Amino acid sequence: MLKYSIIFAAVLSSLSVSAAPVQERSSSGGPALFSEASAAAALLAAQTAYIVGGGDKKVWSYAPNNQTGTVSADTIVKYGRYSGAAYKVLDMTWTCSINCKAADTKGTVVDYHWDTAKTTNPSFGFVAHKDDTKEIIVSWRGTTILMDWVKDLTYFPVSWPPSIAGSQVHRGFLQAYSSASAHIEETVAKLVAKYPDYSIVLTGHSLGGAQATIAAVDYATRHPEWLSKLKLFTYGQPRVGNPKFAGWLSQQPFPIYRTVYKGDLVPRVPFQFMGFQHISQEVWYNENGRLKFMGSNGENASGQNSLLPLQWNVPDHLRYPGLSFELLYWAIGNIESIP
Ligand SMILES: *[C@@H]1O[C@H](CO)[C@@H](O)[C@H](O)[C@H]1NC(C)=O
Ligand SMILES: *[C@@H]1O[C@H](CO)[C@@H](O)[C@H](O)[C@H]1NC(C)=O
Repeated sequence: MLKYSIIFAAVLSSLSVSAAPVQERSSSGGPALFSEASAAAALLAAQTAYIVGGGDKKVWSYAPNNQTGTVSADTIVKYGRYSGAAYKVLDMTWTCSINCKAADTKGTVVDYHWDTAKTTNPSFGFVAHKDDTKEIIVSWRGTTILMDWVKDLTYFPVSWPPSIAGSQVHRGFLQAYSSASAHIEETVAKLVAKYPDYSIVLTGHSLGGAQATIAAVDYATRHPEWLSKLKLFTYGQPRVGNPKFAGWLSQQPFPIYRTVYKGDLVPRVPFQFMGFQHISQEVWYNENGRLKFMGSNGENASGQNSLLPLQWNVPDHLRYPGLSFELLYWAIGNIESIP
């Protein structure tokens, strides 16, 4: 019961900002709280109607879709560690309590660290390389105020990138990505020149996963010479773009693993009825904690989409294997930002 209250409170608070214009409009009249609650209820009702009507069961993907392979659970956990490390690696040294000392991440060298805290939609993270595994790793962190961007439901998609006709992405996610993208790309390009046989792994949790996804499209469209090097591993990422964006990315020849932990609320937003669609391939830790590879349909009905809204929750957003330790440790220091 308590869990459901938390979910409901989180969904309501997530949606409340979207009600702001309604609140402004009604400022001369009725109580603001009433307007916010009505707008929130209307949005939730619209998505529920969409789900009940079978909207989320339809096959969205553009065939043929290249995202169908599998990797070991250890690989999912390993890049989870890199995603989690972005919460604790705050300068040019590879230092954090657990994730940086694990056998599979030890010896990573940080080449660039960014923090655009002063911008409206900030971005944080690092570019690093690891010689024994021949990898260049770019890891984007979630936001400082954990769920702030979830509230950005007022952000409708904007057209991007220019080279893919009809493709649209969430404006806030694109702004966050763009606030640091130039220096990140410059560093990646230098590393590629220095280590031509290394792969480029893009990773991130939450908003960080959204930025890694945008980076994958940005690099794939503007650096075709990197296509054979790219890999995308995200954790608890929200929906980033429209079906055209998701379909285009899912057809790329490089591997994509979009991991979702059980009932994590974040991958459920922004809602599909607002025009957003997930990329494939989803890797779902099902209710028993078993990894399931969901194949070519970004919105496979037997993955996380099989859960009902009452099963969505915020705590699962912080429980990704491999990722969680640094994240929870960081969250304790930022307790006020937990919804
Ligand atoms: C799938 O990947 C292969 C290379 O692995 C590529 O040749 C093919 O064009 C890709 N398919 C699509 C639909 O992009
Ligand atoms: C959905 O996922 C299952 C595996 O869990 C797979 O067998 C099925 O082909 C997938 N459907 C699509 C449309 O990709």
